[in-house]
Amino acid sequence: MHTRNMDFFFSMLALLFFSFLFSISKRLLAKPKKLPPSPPSLPILGHLHLIKKPLHRSLTVLSNRYGPILSLRFGSRPVLLISSPSSAEDCLSKNDIIFANRPRILFGKRMAYNYSAIGWASYGSHWRNLRRIATIEILSSNRIKMYSAVRIREVHSLVKDLFQDSELGKSVVELKTRFSQLTFNVMMGMIAGKRYYGENVVDLEEARRFREIVKKVPAVAGESNFGDFIPFLGWMDLGGVEKRMVRLARERDEFLLALIDEHRRRRNKDDFSCEQGEGKKMKKTLIDVMLSLQETQPQYYTDHIIMGMIAALLTAGTDTSSLTMEWAMSLLLNHPDVLEKAKAELDLQVGPRLLDESDLAKLPYLDCIINETLRLYPVAPLLLPHESSEESIVGGFNVPYGTMLLVNAWAIHRDPKLWVDPIDFKPERFQGPEGAKEALKLIPFGHGRRACPGAGLAVRIVGLALGTLIQCFEWERVGEEKVDMTEGTGLTMPKAQPLKAVYKPSHSMLNVLSQL
Ligand code: HEM
Ligand SMILES: *[C@@H]1O[C@H](CO)[C@@H](O)[C@H](O)[C@H]1NC(C)=O
Ligand SMILES: *[C@@H]1O[C@H](CO)[C@@H](O)[C@H](O)[C@H]1NC(C)=O
Repeated sequence: MHTRNMDFFFSMLALLFFSFLFSISKRLLAKPKKLPPSPPSLPILGHLHLIKKPLHRSLTVLSNRYGPILSLRFGSRPVLLISSPSSAEDCLSKNDIIFANRPRILFGKRMAYNYSAIGWASYGSHWRNLRRIATIEILSSNRIKMYSAVRIREVHSLVKDLFQDSELGKSVVELKTRFSQLTFNVMMGMIAGKRYYGENVVDLEEARRFREIVKKVPAVAGESNFGDFIPFLGWMDLGGVEKRMVRLARERDEFLLALIDEHRRRRNKDDFSCEQGEGKKMKKTLIDVMLSLQETQPQYYTDHIIMGMIAALLTAGTDTSSLTMEWAMSLLLNHPDVLEKAKAELDLQVGPRLLDESDLAKLPYLDCIINETLRLYPVAPLLLPHESSEESIVGGFNVPYGTMLLVNAWAIHRDPKLWVDPIDFKPERFQGPEGAKEALKLIPFGHGRRACPGAGLAVRIVGLALGTLIQCFEWERVGEEKVDMTEGTGLTMPKAQPLKAVYKPSHSMLNVLSQL
């Protein structure tokens, strides 16, 4: 017995030895590859020990030290970190298709239907199809215009609330919560024709339940999941993240399925030929749009596909937009001169009536403020991770297939080689024809075929909300101190401190406000 074990041991040793020799000789014989520079790493962890929160900041420290094209290892996962426009161009334009995959991380499996939803699907016919639906059927400029009433309603409801509170003597508002309720109502208004916060909420209990579920999604996504990088830990599910994701996904799916069924029943009851009709009938919601697709191709547009699309819109579209509003307002409070200029533009172009989306085209300065906010505080500072499907060449270096790509938009947006006074808030930099060229250096929504399909919608919601708030109220900081601009940790770069502001109704808008 004993000797048999020894035999086994020695033959394993020999096997290991020969495979080692084999891999060495293969490397020596292959033509030399020039890999991007890489900081010293540890076994197993790779470079994980160098990474601190917030991630975009610690990655910026690394690229400042070792260069704008870096190869890293997060555990067993090879990573390419890009922090310059030319190398970003190499990955997102020139080698666009090669880098169009997404890495398979736990969130994509458990929360995005086995990587089948738009945000986490890898490049291929399925993703292309979802992407086509998203850009043509769901987020096209025509479709977005059809829902402008939803956005106006929600923004007016916020303004009305604030006005009524001020009539009751309040003068301070916590804006983070208001903005996140606003964008959630806007998205659900488009998706399902329902409100989940405020008055006329369809069903209080349903609303409460769904709000709870949705709030938990960024939390599980943000839990740093070592299993994504060290598979061994993933199998053991040490922190229980996977179990929590599975449970949350089940609760969410139950809810979404009920929502879809409700729409299906309504569609069967009254035919949608009169969808434009006034009266009690609701307008065609995005769920209706997707159910129409399901009728034509039921095998493909399953309920899972529809649920995946709704979930993607909610995760990608709500926090991103509301945090951008919060960063923008914070910047404005710290720069009263900019706030004043924005107000002057609104007074001149819109006058004493409420801003409409069709006015946004006449408000270039407001647009500059939004661009400058997205430059300094891109809420997806590292975009979303991509993954390469083939070997490629980036900035003269060989990048192996299966490498996870991170583009540090935050670092590019603050690079002193690219911007004058890079950390100053100066919307003027985007003014005029010269400014338009500056705007080309921005990548808050990514670039290429994986770029954000919701950018047009996002800019509209943010512009309408900001513009209307600037019109209707005088805004000031709480106390003398500047608004604390530290970023907290989380997937979509939140502010560490939720924004509070002092406000009072603008004199010129009192009439309008009291009629809301
Ligand atoms: C200020 C707001 C927003 C910002 C900064 C933002 C930014 C981004 C970024 C950086 C990406 C990843 C790009 C890449 O992979 O290279 C992305 C993807 C995506 N965004 Fe947005 N986004 C915003 C709002 C929205 C909205 C309002 C929607 C839709 C309602 C949306 C839907 C999506 C979807 C579906 C994807 C995944 C696309 C794909 O993987 O093919 N986003 N967004
Ligand atoms: C994902 O795929 C696995 C196996 O391929 C399957 O067992 C599971 O039910 C799928 N989950 C979802 C949410 O589709
Ligand atoms: C803002 O940025 C976008 C995208 O880069 C650009 O198309 C637009 O012209 C910019 N607007 C202004 C006023 O700079």
